Amino acid sequence: MKIIAMISDELLDYAEQHSTQEYPILERLNRETQLTQVYPRMLAGHMQGMMLRLVSQMIKPRRILEIGTFTGYSAINLAMGLNFSPAEEGVLHTIEVDPEQEMIIRKYLAEAGMEKKVILHIGEAMKIIPTLGETWDLVYIDADKPNYLNYYKLLFDGVRPGGFIIADNALWDGKVLDPGTRSSDTRGIIEFNEFVFKDDRVENLLLPFRDGLMIVRKKG
Ligand SMILES: C[S@@+](CC[C@H](N)C(=O)[O-])C[C@H]1O[C@@H](n2cnc3c(N)ncnc32)[C@H](O)[C@@H]1O
Repeated sequence: MKIIAMISDELLDYAEQHSTQEYPILERLNRETQLTQVYPRMLAGHMQGMMLRLVSQMIKPRRILEIGTFTGYSAINLAMGLNFSPAEEGVLHTIEVDPEQEMIIRKYLAEAGMEKKVILHIGEAMKIIPTLGETWDLVYIDADKPNYLNYYKLLFDGVRPGGFIIADNALWDGKVLDPGTRSSDTRGIIEFNEFVFKDDRVENLLLPFRDGLMIVRKKG
């Protein structure tokens, strides 16, 4: 039985009503994104934002890499879990190719008091990742789908043993069930899922939550 088919809107509403409410700053960012963006659905949303925040809070990462900032909603959630003990000074690097997003991202990072915790890079992720020279405790991939596998291969050595990679849209609205697809986005996700599944350097869970979260732990 498919989990996606099992959960009614009513049940999803119930789950949301029985989860911690969206923080006011995230609510404002969500609303401004809905009002000003052409594709506001790209924003993670309250439930997924919380999921990312809780995962980050469990890991307490020192270094997080996010690929695909959009308006900064997931970045703020992930950064809330950074290890910020005096000895650690956690930092999240986030990469966004669209310079038009810079203003809204910086506005909400400032409101959240995260200008120093979150380093925004505007540009192509494939070019920026090799320049960062960090060891990642947690990576969140949420950008152009044809590059998912390229990102994974490019950053894998930089993930510490025991570190995590999470990729959004791993079920891609159910289109992963069409292996003959000509869509480069769908092919990108399918190739990524297959590669991760066969990669014996990791253990992984394709979690059927929202549009599918691929959760990968590097062994070690
Ligand atoms: C789904 S949205 C990210 C949503 C965001 N993580 C959130 O949850 O609020 C994908 C973002 O990736 C960006 N993007 C697409 N291709 C990219 C690339 N090659 N390098 C960096 N960012 C890219 C897009 O401009 C878009 O803002």
